[in-house]
Amino acid sequence: MLAELTHRCPLSCPYCSNPQELTTISAELETDQWADIFRQAAELGVLQLHLSGGEPASRRDLVDLVIAAREAGLYTNLITSGIGLTPKRLEALNDAGLDHIQLSVQGVAPQLADWVGGYKGGFERKMHVAEHIARLGFPLTLNAVMHRHNLDDLPATIELALKLGARRMEVACVQFQGWALENRSMLQPTREQVDAAKALVAHARKEHRGTLVIDFVPPDYYADFPKACMGGWGSTGLNIAPDGKVLPCHAAETIPHLTFQHAQDVPLAEIWYDDPAFQAYRGTDWMPDLCQSCDRRDVDFGGCRCQAMAIAADAGATDPVCRKSPHRGLVDALLEAELGAQAQQDFIYRKPPASV
Ligand code: SF4
Ligand code: FES
Repeated sequence: MLAELTHRCPLSCPYCSNPQELTTISAELETDQWADIFRQAAELGVLQLHLSGGEPASRRDLVDLVIAAREAGLYTNLITSGIGLTPKRLEALNDAGLDHIQLSVQGVAPQLADWVGGYKGGFERKMHVAEHIARLGFPLTLNAVMHRHNLDDLPATIELALKLGARRMEVACVQFQGWALENRSMLQPTREQVDAAKALVAHARKEHRGTLVIDFVPPDYYADFPKACMGGWGSTGLNIAPDGKVLPCHAAETIPHLTFQHAQDVPLAEIWYDDPAFQAYRGTDWMPDLCQSCDRRDVDFGGCRCQAMAIAADAGATDPVCRKSPHRGLVDALLEAELGAQAQQDFIYRKPPASV
C-alpha cells in the first residue's frame, strides 16, 4: 500500500506523479486517521507500506506515523527527496523502527539536479542527508528518475548509488502520468539513449552483482508490450491519497467515470473487495477481445488503464503502447512529434496546493 501522506513538497519536479489538482493541507488526514488505516490495511493482508507524498517529511507527525505503522505490523519504506530530514529526525525515525529508505535523485550534478527539482541547493542538502542515512545503517534504495536530460549520466548515477552505499537502485524512466504528461516533450528520451541505457544496465548488473541490485523501468513508448501496471488493477496494490481517498493506482482519478471512496468513511476491506472503482478493471473480464485472446493476457493484464485513458481516451482499451493495439499509431506519432519539434523550451513545474 502506498500512503501519499501529503502533496506538500519543497521540490517541484516536472515529472511528479501527483495529480494536477493537489490536495491542500487542510484536507489532509490526521495522525489517528492514518493510524486507523494502517491497522485496517494490516488486517486486510497488506505487508508493505510505502510512505510517500509529495514529500512525506513535510508531515510533522512522520515519526508518529512510522510508529503507528510498525505497531500495526507493517514493513515501512520511506520514499523521500531527503529535504526536511535532519540528522535528529533520521535518528527518531530509526528509533521508531523505520525499515527502509528510498531516496530520490534528480541528477548527479548539482546544477542539473537543482534545475530539474526546481530547488536551489537541493542536491547538496540531499547528499548530507544521504551521509546520515548511511551512518545510521538504513537499507537504502536510490531512486533515479531518468529522462532526456539525465539519461546520459547513467554511469555516474550508478557510481553515486555505490558511493552512497545503496543496496538497490531503481533506474526508472519517466512514466507519463500526472505532471510528466504536461512535460512529455521536454522529458521524452531518444531511442539512442534508451538503447544505450539498456546495454549499460545489463553490463552494470553483472559488474555489481552481490553489491547493488539494479531495477530498470524502461520508457513505455519505446516498448512493444505494455507494463503490467500495478501488477493488474485491484490485484496486489492500492494507494491512499492525502485526503483518505482510496485509489487502485496513483493516476486513477484521471479516469472520469470512476468515483472513489474515503478510508475514513468506509472500511478499507469493503472498498478493496466491493468498490465499483476497484471492480472496474479487476481480473480479465473487462478486457477487449484483443487482450482476452492474447497469450500475454495474464502477463501484462492489458497494460495501464490510465495510459489507455490519456492516449486513446478509453480506459477500457488495450494499452496503446502494445504493438497489437489499434491505437499504437498514436504513440508513434507522439514520439515523432515530440522528438522532432521539441516546442517546449522549459519545464512546467509542479505547483504547490493553493493554501500552502
Ligand atoms: Fe498485453 Fe493486450 Fe497487448 Fe496482449 S494485446 S500484449 S494482453 S496489451
Ligand atoms: Fe493507473 Fe497504470 S497508472 S493503471
